[in-house]
Amino acid sequence: MFYETKKNNHGLKFNPFKSCIIPRPIAWITTISEDGEDNCAPYSFFNGVASDPPMVMFANNGPAPSLRGPKDTFTNIKNNKEFVVNISTYESKDKMNKTCAPLSSGESEIEYASLETKESNFIKPKSLKISPINMECVLYKIVDLPNTNENEYNAIIIGKVIGINIDDEFIKDGIINVKKLKPLARLGYMDYSAVDNIFSMKRPS
Ligand SMILES: Cc1cc2nc3c(=O)[nH]c(=O)nc-3n(C[C@H](O)[C@H](O)[C@H](O)COP(=O)(O)O)c2cc1C
Repeated sequence: MFYETKKNNHGLKFNPFKSCIIPRPIAWITTISEDGEDNCAPYSFFNGVASDPPMVMFANNGPAPSLRGPKDTFTNIKNNKEFVVNISTYESKDKMNKTCAPLSSGESEIEYASLETKESNFIKPKSLKISPINMECVLYKIVDLPNTNENEYNAIIIGKVIGINIDDEFIKDGIINVKKLKPLARLGYMDYSAVDNIFSMKRPS
C-alpha cells in the first residue's frame, strides 16, 4: 500500500506513521518551573544527534501556546534552559506511564508516580533515582516545526549533554550492561518493547 500523508488515505484503523519508526527510546525528562516545581514526562520523539560534544533532541507535539500553552516540559526548558534526560527502563515502565497523566497544573507527576529524585551535578532540574542513566542537558536551540492543525505546536528541542550519571551497578567489564539495564522502547499504538536481545556486527574495513 501507499498513502499520501497530506490526505492520510491509508485506510487503516490507525495512522501508521509512528509505527513505522520503531523502536524509539524514551527520554523521561525532568525540568523545573519558574516557581521551582519539579516536572517529569516521557518523550519518545527522542534521540542522540551528535557524540562530540554529545547532543540530544526531543520533540514537543500538542496544544499550541494560544490554547492551554505548550507542554510544561517545553515551557520549563524555554524559561530555565536546562533539563535531565532520565533513561526509562523495563523496571520503571509503570511509573513512566503514570507521568504522562494529564494532571491539573500544580499537581506533581513526580508525587503521583511516587518517584524519588536526587540533586543533579551541574543543573537545577533534579534527576530520577530510579533511572540508571541521567543526562544533564542545557538548551542549545528550539526549532519550530510546521503544524497542520493550528491548535497544535510542534518543535524540536536540542540540548547539549554536559554531564552523565551512570549507576556503577549497570557497568560490567567497562561497558554498559544492557541486559541488566533493559532500556524501554516505544513501539506503535500502545505497544512497548524492552531491549534484552543483543547481537554484534563488525563494520566492513
Ligand atoms: C511513552 C510516551 C512517549 C511520549 N512521547 C511524546 C513525544 O515525543 N512528544 C510529545 O509531545 N508528547 C509525548 N508524550 C506525551 C507526553 O508525555 C504528555 O503529553 C505529558 O503529559 C506531557 O507532560 P508535561 O506537560 O509535564 O511536559 C509521550 C507519552 C508517552 C507515555
